[in-house]
Amino acid sequence: MSKAVRIHETGGPEVLKWEDVETEGPGSGEALVRHTAVGLNYIDVYHRSGLYPLPALPAVIGMEGAGIVEAVSEGVEKVAVGDRVAYAAPPPGAYAEKRLISADRLVAVPEGIDDVTAAAMMLKGMTAQYLLRCTHPVKSGETILVHAAAGGVGMILCQWASHLGVRVIGTVGSEAKVEHAKTHGCDYALLYDDGGYVNEIEVITEGRGVDVVYDGVGSETFDSSLESLSMLGHLVSFGQTSGPVEPVELGLLSAKSATLTRPVLFHYTESRGDLVAAANELFDVVGRGVVRIEVSGTCPLADAAEAHRDLESRLTTGSTVLIP
Ligand SMILES: NC(=O)c1ccc[n+]([C@@H]2O[C@H](COP(=O)([O-])OP(=O)(O)OC[C@H]3O[C@@H](n4cnc5c(N)ncnc54)[C@H](OP(=O)(O)O)[C@@H]3O)[C@@H](O)[C@H]2O)c1
Repeated sequence: MSKAVRIHETGGPEVLKWEDVETEGPGSGEALVRHTAVGLNYIDVYHRSGLYPLPALPAVIGMEGAGIVEAVSEGVEKVAVGDRVAYAAPPPGAYAEKRLISADRLVAVPEGIDDVTAAAMMLKGMTAQYLLRCTHPVKSGETILVHAAAGGVGMILCQWASHLGVRVIGTVGSEAKVEHAKTHGCDYALLYDDGGYVNEIEVITEGRGVDVVYDGVGSETFDSSLESLSMLGHLVSFGQTSGPVEPVELGLLSAKSATLTRPVLFHYTESRGDLVAAANELFDVVGRGVVRIEVSGTCPLADAAEAHRDLESRLTTGSTVLIP
C-alpha cells in the first residue's frame, strides 16, 4: 500500500484526494519508481477539470516525476534497481509516492541535476526543446513572441531561444512578472493589455511582425497572436490556459500565408531515440547554465489542490514541484 492523489470525478481542485492505493509489482517492460519529486504542469489541470478526458476513474493524475527505481520486470535493461531517473510521459499517474511506468520512458538523471530540478524541467524543458528545434526550428536573427513568458514552459523556452540568437518578445499577466521574464531570456516583456501588445510588437519589429508565436494561452490570445505574425509567419498553438481555441476559419491564414500548428510533446518523444535525444539536449543546456530551471515553490504532494489553485490563479512563475 502507498499514498497517491486520486480523482473520482472531474472538477475543481477539491476533487484531488490523498488516498491509500494498491501498488503492484512491475508487469512486462515496466519499472516501479519511488518518487522523490513530482512536477506540476498545466496538463494536470486539464485532466483534473475534464478538458482532457481520462480513460477511467478513479485516476491518479500527473505526467512528470523523478525518483529511484525500486523494481523492474524481467528483461528490462534500460534501467536497474537503484537508478536515479526522471520522466515526462503518459499515462498519467505521477501524483503518487510510487508508480509503475514503462521502463523505456525513463532516463537517468545526470549527477549535477538534483531530483527537484529534474521534476521541474523534464516536461516543460522537453517541450521547449521540440518547440524550438522541431516544430519551428528557430534561426539566429528571428524574432519570436512567447505568451506566459514567466511561466514554467515560458521561462525555459525564452532562455533557450535567446541562447540560439533569437530576439524574444514575451507577454506576462502582471507587472510583477515583467522582471522574471526579462531575467529569463526576454528582450521585451509586454503586458497582454487586452491585445494592446500587438501595437507594441509592430513598433519593435518596425511593422514586420514576428516570425513565430508560441502560444500556450489559447482562446484569449489566439486572434492577437495571428495579428502579431509576419508574412509567412508560424503560429504554434500548444496549449490553452485561458480556454480552448474556437474552431478556426482556414481562410484567415491566407492574409499572411501563415502556418498554424497544434503540436503535442508526447508525439515528438514517442520513440525511445527521440526521447533520449530531447532529454540529452535539455540536460546539456541546463548543465552548461544556458537554461536555469527556476523552482518557484515546492509543496507537499498531499496538498496538490493548493498548488493547482495557485497555478490556475496565475500566481506562480517558473516551475512548482510536489514533494511526496
Ligand atoms: N502541447 C504540448 O506539448 C505542451 C507541453 C507542455 C505544456 N503545454 C502547455 O503550455 C502551457 C504552459 O504550461 P505550464 O505548465 O508551463 O504553465 P504555466 O505557464 O507555468 O502557467 C500558466 C500561465 O498561463 C498564463 N495564463 C494566461 N491566461 C490564463 C488564464 N486565464 N488562466 C490561467 N493562466 C493563464 C499565466 O501567466 P500570465 O499571468 O503571465 O499570463 C499562468 O501563469 C499550457 O497551456 C500547457 O498546456 C503544452
